[in-house]
Amino acid sequence: MGLFDVKKSCEAGQVDMSRLPRHIAIIMDGNGRWAKQRGLPRTAGHKVGAEVFRRIAKYCKKLGVEYLTVYAFSTENWKRPQDEVNTIMGLLKQYMLEAIDSMEEEKIRLKFFGDMTALSPELQELVEKTNAISKHIDGVQANICLNYGGRDEILRAARAFAQQCAAGEKHPEELTEAAFGEYLFSAGVPDPELIIRPSGEVRLSNFLLWQCAYAEFYFCDTLWPDFSEETLDAAIIDYQKRDRRFGGVKK
Ligand code: IPE
Ligand code: IPE
Ligand code: MG
Repeated sequence: MGLFDVKKSCEAGQVDMSRLPRHIAIIMDGNGRWAKQRGLPRTAGHKVGAEVFRRIAKYCKKLGVEYLTVYAFSTENWKRPQDEVNTIMGLLKQYMLEAIDSMEEEKIRLKFFGDMTALSPELQELVEKTNAISKHIDGVQANICLNYGGRDEILRAARAFAQQCAAGEKHPEELTEAAFGEYLFSAGVPDPELIIRPSGEVRLSNFLLWQCAYAEFYFCDTLWPDFSEETLDAAIIDYQKRDRRFGGVKK
């Protein structure tokens, strides 16, 4: 496809399937406001939000996106009222139970990024079960960021490397960007080319701070429960119009 054709297909509102991002990351935000607008409790928004995640993961698989990383619960979200935290954890449990049964058939490999030790023993067990099944699946990889913070991730990596240095197993000079990446939750996963934040907020809120170095950002006002296949198409089409220079000059 020539440059003109690419431009034309973008203008016509079509995703160019030959230039898809390999990895899309999404901050699933706006559940609470969506519910409030309808006079419902915030938890109702999280329920719909979980459904939307299922749909979008399937759509990514259909498109051929290899990795989808979603922000489900941050290291800061524990500040929320206990009943809201409980509802979110309950939805995650339900999702994992369903995923354990359907992952193989749906060919969606699940991974969890974050500090799982703060979760209930029951949830930790489900995470382990899900991870074990995931090892045998090759399909799209969905990374769910749960009790995840970008700073926490970097700090853990630094600590782990420092400990290996102290034990004489590693030397500071060995630490390259690639080597450091192997200490992160995202080890082995390419950086996201596209990071999407719906809901009108224009900030990262501690999401993928290391991995976002050269990501393209897409912000939109849609609240996550209203996010659809069309919204994702619009984000990808916008991404496909960008000129990614990586510090170089325009070709
Ligand atoms: C995102 O929606 C879900 C989580 C952070 C768990 P919010 O709950 O943040 O929704 P708003 O931003 O308050 O509308
Ligand atoms: C970020 O959204 C975390 C998730 C979507 C899971 P928040 O709603 O917690 O972020 P802030 O508080 O608006 O920065
Ligand atoms: Mg929010």
